[in-house]
Parts: sequence; C-alpha cells; structure tokens
Amino acid sequence: MVATHRLLSLLGVLAAVSIGAAQSTTVRIMPLGDSITGSPGCWRALLWRKLQTAKITNTKFVGTLPAQGCGFTYDGANEGHGGILATGIVAKKQLPDWLSQTHPDIVMMHLGTNDVWNAQTPEAILAAFDAMVDWMRASKAGVKILVAQIIPMNPPNCAQCGARVVALNKAIPAWAAGRNTTESPVVVVDCWTGFDTAKDTRDGVHPNDSGNQKLADAWFGPLVRAIQG
Ligand SMILES: *[C@@H]1O[C@H](CO)[C@@H](O)[C@H](O)[C@H]1NC(C)=O
Ligand SMILES: *[C@@H]1O[C@H](CO)[C@@H](O)[C@H](O)[C@H]1NC(C)=O
Repeated sequence: MVATHRLLSLLGVLAAVSIGAAQSTTVRIMPLGDSITGSPGCWRALLWRKLQTAKITNTKFVGTLPAQGCGFTYDGANEGHGGILATGIVAKKQLPDWLSQTHPDIVMMHLGTNDVWNAQTPEAILAAFDAMVDWMRASKAGVKILVAQIIPMNPPNCAQCGARVVALNKAIPAWAAGRNTTESPVVVVDCWTGFDTAKDTRDGVHPNDSGNQKLADAWFGPLVRAIQG
C-alpha cells in the first residue's frame, strides 16, 4: 500500500514537472506581412501586452526586422516588410532565408494588401500562399500557420481595392482548409469583420490607434490557442 502510494505520488510529481516544462518552452512567433505588420505595426505591441496581462510569457517574437517605436518596450522582432507582395516574396524566394534565420514555431501572416493594390488575382495570391506554406513546413514540419482575412482597404488611388480584398478574403477559408493538417494546422483569423477604414485607419490602409487595438484583439484568441495547443 505504502509503496503504491509513493509510486502514485512520484507519478504525480513527474506529471507536474512535465506540464511545467511544456508551459515554459519558448514558442517562437513570426509576424509576416507588409507595412501593416512592420511599420510600425503597433498592433503587435498591443498584442504582446495582452499576452503579458494574460501571464502568457513563454513567447519570443522572431523576424529579421526590429521593433519600431510604439510608446513602450515590447518584444517586436517581425517580418513585416513595407510594400511587399505575397507574390513578390515567392517570385524573389525571400521566405526560406527569413525562416532559416529565425526558426518560427508559429507564423502569423497578414498578406495580400499590396497584391490586390497591384491587381493580383485571388488565385495568384493563394498560389503564393501555397508556396509559402511549403517553405514554412520545410523549415519546421509542425509549424502552426495563422492566416489573416486581411483588413479592408480604401486608398485614394484604387476604387476597386475594397472589393478585391473582399474577394481574396472570401477565397481564404477554402484554401486554408485544403492545406490544413493535424501536424501543421492552418487557422484563419478574421481581421476584416468590424474594421472600418474610415475610423480605424489614418490613410485608408494603415491602422491608427483604434485599428491597432482591433487587430490585437483579432489575433489574440487564435494566437493563444496556437501557443497553448
Ligand atoms: C484546421 O484544423 C484545426 C483542427 O486541427 C481547426 O481548428 C482549424 O479551424 C482548421 N482550419 C481550417 C481552415 O479549416
Ligand atoms: C483614426 O483615424 C480616423 C481617420 O483619420 C480618425 O477619424 C479617428 O479619430 C482615429 N482614431 C484614433 C483612435 O486614432
């Protein structure tokens, strides 16, 4: 009896130790995108602060670009390249190098804004996403991929851009389901719903303070599930 009890206690201790170890493993997160993500992309600062408030501190944001100023210190490495297109990243084969320098466990991508601005079709953009998923999985077989249905846009020089974003966003869920696997889940994050270009951007494209808050809120739940899942 005593021996059994001791064995059970020991098992309990071992279980507790392994749970503790799982929680303290650092999860490497790459925010991948364009200027909406990188310059300055202060929704990432708000998102990081929300994680700290929720006591989720086993994260490291990764990317070859540094944090930009957002009023407080935060973990702000990122892969948000101003002006970049998803189709351009693939044409120039840029992602493998970024991945090999940073080794993300989770990639959160908000891409397509500059593609639709340059009249790339949803098919062309999703073909680029396909190539990027392949590169991410070559970097880490179990990578978790969060893909945004991107925020709306209404720049002065592109009357069609708003509808093009809607068309891209509409095509993303079926594309994501087709690339989803148990080992390397692809999860769609709705950044579009509730985002208003008139109230939440400064120029029809880039989030202002209220837009940044909405983006942080949109990413938070899916990112926490990916960190803890
Ligand atoms: C992919 O599968 C996961 C469960 O493993 C699910 O949570 C997620 O919503 C799926 N993604 C898509 C786009 O269907
Ligand atoms: C966001 O930008 C819009 C348009 O410039 C402005 O009306 C709004 O007051 C701004 N809101 C915040 C919180 O910065």
